[in-house]
Amino acid sequence: MFRPQLLRQTARAVFSQTSRSNFKTTRPAIRTVRNFSHTPYRLQREPKNDDVDAATTSGEPGESGDHEGQFARTDKSVRVEYPEEEDLPSSQPVQGRGGFHFKRTLASFSLEGRVGVVTGGARGLGLVMSQALVASGADVAIVDLNKEEAMRSAKGLVETFKAENPGVEKLPKVTAHFCDVSSPTSVNQSVAEILKEHGKIDNLVTSAGFTENYDAISYPHDRMQKLWGVNVDGTYLFAVAVAKHLMERKAQGSIIFIGSMSGAIVNVPQPQAPYNAAKAAVRHLAASLAVEWAHAGIRVNCISPGYMLTALTKKILDDNPDLQKQWTSLIPQGKMGRPEDLMGAVTFLASDASNYVTGADLRVDGGYTIT
Ligand SMILES: NC(=O)c1ccc[n+]([C@@H]2O[C@H](COP(=O)([O-])OP(=O)(O)OC[C@H]3O[C@@H](n4cnc5c(N)ncnc54)[C@H](O)[C@@H]3O)[C@@H](O)[C@H]2O)c1
Repeated sequence: MFRPQLLRQTARAVFSQTSRSNFKTTRPAIRTVRNFSHTPYRLQREPKNDDVDAATTSGEPGESGDHEGQFARTDKSVRVEYPEEEDLPSSQPVQGRGGFHFKRTLASFSLEGRVGVVTGGARGLGLVMSQALVASGADVAIVDLNKEEAMRSAKGLVETFKAENPGVEKLPKVTAHFCDVSSPTSVNQSVAEILKEHGKIDNLVTSAGFTENYDAISYPHDRMQKLWGVNVDGTYLFAVAVAKHLMERKAQGSIIFIGSMSGAIVNVPQPQAPYNAAKAAVRHLAASLAVEWAHAGIRVNCISPGYMLTALTKKILDDNPDLQKQWTSLIPQGKMGRPEDLMGAVTFLASDASNYVTGADLRVDGGYTIT
């Protein structure tokens, strides 16, 4: 039976053998022999002058140009060590987000009467999310490694609230507590301290965390352990301590983990394998604990932010100015987020508005992870 398909493949194999042996004479012969197959070619083209072929797995690395993998690979020359505490600027509460307004909104979004705990709340995303809880009616305990910064931020939140709500009868209670979230002893001590000050905990937001960039081969092991200790152990330990309290109190509660889109995709070009893996763990920990604690009325969800402009990301961009263009070119919305873009997401997940949402991962990333 005449098989045009087979004929084309034969021609192609012969062509490939001759033209390829011209291309690189040192190449081992075995690489130039194409296997016969009855599978139809996806591209029904004549073999001659077919540049597309070089762009398939039959081409040599780099054969079709320098662009190969250009937007899909890490670059080990990008290296950013997480800075020392004193080298990081402090954050200020955002303005104009917490005043009285007369717009109709669902009452279920209110956090009146609740107590929220925010780890890593002294700065960055944690501070803005603390402010969202306060603006929505909650009292808040800010927990941080940097207690002085946490105290300044707690004071700043109350002052901002006062300025934006002149004549208000009751001010929110915002306290500051030291904790190294990677230490079980420290976590238990700070939870006990918070309970002494506030009497209860209803919501937890785990924002303590950090990232740094090393290629995997060069990543110092002690730094990797520290990164996982804060991002993963810290999230787990605080969640367990708060869930235990809620169960003892027989109260419902909502826990929100701050993951990252890096838990679902691999960022480029900066290499950060341990961070990506840590955030994937955080996301799946939320899902797992959501199942384990559903019987007790405790919801556990994850927020996975994309690139948000905080001290952490600003440091990376200051060290590597080209990254900003690369990052924003990969975001469908074309922009990095601001920390205040998380205010709605955290309020939704903390409040009764999300009563039937548990184990979810809410991406706040300008669409990064959908392309
Ligand atoms: N900034 C972003 O673009 C971005 C994107 C996705 C996810 N995230 C995640 O959001 C969270 C907050 O990031 P950020 O940009 O606000 O960082 P940040 O450095 O501005 O704030 C982190 C806070 O955590 C505190 N902290 C660090 N180690 C701690 C420890 N062991 N115990 C208690 N507190 C500790 C720091 O003192 C700091 O106040 C992190 O988990 C980060 O991975 C950030």
